[in-house]
Amino acid sequence: MAHLLHLDSSMRTEGSRSRKLSAHFANAWRAAHPDGAVTYRDLAARPLPHLDQDAFLGNVLAPSDRTPAQQAARDLTEEVVNELLAADEVVIGLPLYNFSAPTTFKAWTDRIVVPGLTTGESGGLLGHVRMTFTTARGGGYGPGTPREGWDHREPWLRHALSAVGITDVRFIDTELTLARESPAMAALDLGALEDKSLADAHAAIDALFAERAAA
Ligand SMILES: Cc1cc2nc3c(=O)[nH]c(=O)nc-3n(C[C@H](O)[C@H](O)[C@H](O)COP(=O)(O)O)c2cc1C
Repeated sequence: MAHLLHLDSSMRTEGSRSRKLSAHFANAWRAAHPDGAVTYRDLAARPLPHLDQDAFLGNVLAPSDRTPAQQAARDLTEEVVNELLAADEVVIGLPLYNFSAPTTFKAWTDRIVVPGLTTGESGGLLGHVRMTFTTARGGGYGPGTPREGWDHREPWLRHALSAVGITDVRFIDTELTLARESPAMAALDLGALEDKSLADAHAAIDALFAERAAA
């Protein structure tokens, strides 16, 4: 059965563009897979603990050698990893915070690299998983802008995910989301560009599912 894992990580629920887009993706996915299953996890509402020594050692020690704290950490790791192992498709709503991803999402990425479960002796084990990020960022980072290259999410994630074998990764971005919200940007009158960026991102999701339906 087709299975979508849907994650969100924006700290806000009202007005979040990355959540709006990930929901749009999930709805399109449901329409394409009426018999499919969807698992949802909100990394901002229910943050995972940062990777610590117990969680790390829980992944490398044999079960009989783990302390109760290491076993408890391992149990949580397995809960998170099992959600990923059950999925053949993942969509993640991902805002830009301080030129990178939210730490709540980084905590998830640190949980999913587990020897024997997601990585093997010859590399990552998740080559069958398709992953889409619906991203939002307040400013403009396009080619030729002063901040081109300052959004570090995509380059990092392409490398990090390849470690578990996930290479079918796409980014559907909306930007200039602070065009009206930020007093500093409001004077630049970029509202129309903000709207176009959001409409383009919705259209990119629709085009993706139309392309799949036609294939
Ligand atoms: C803590 C914080 C840090 C942010 N850092 C950046 C940044 O580095 N660059 C940027 O363009 N926007 C930044 N923003 C703006 C967000 O990227 C923008 O509001 C985006 O729409 C958030 O995603 P969301 O709409 O899904 O909540 C930041 C916002 C917050 C709350």
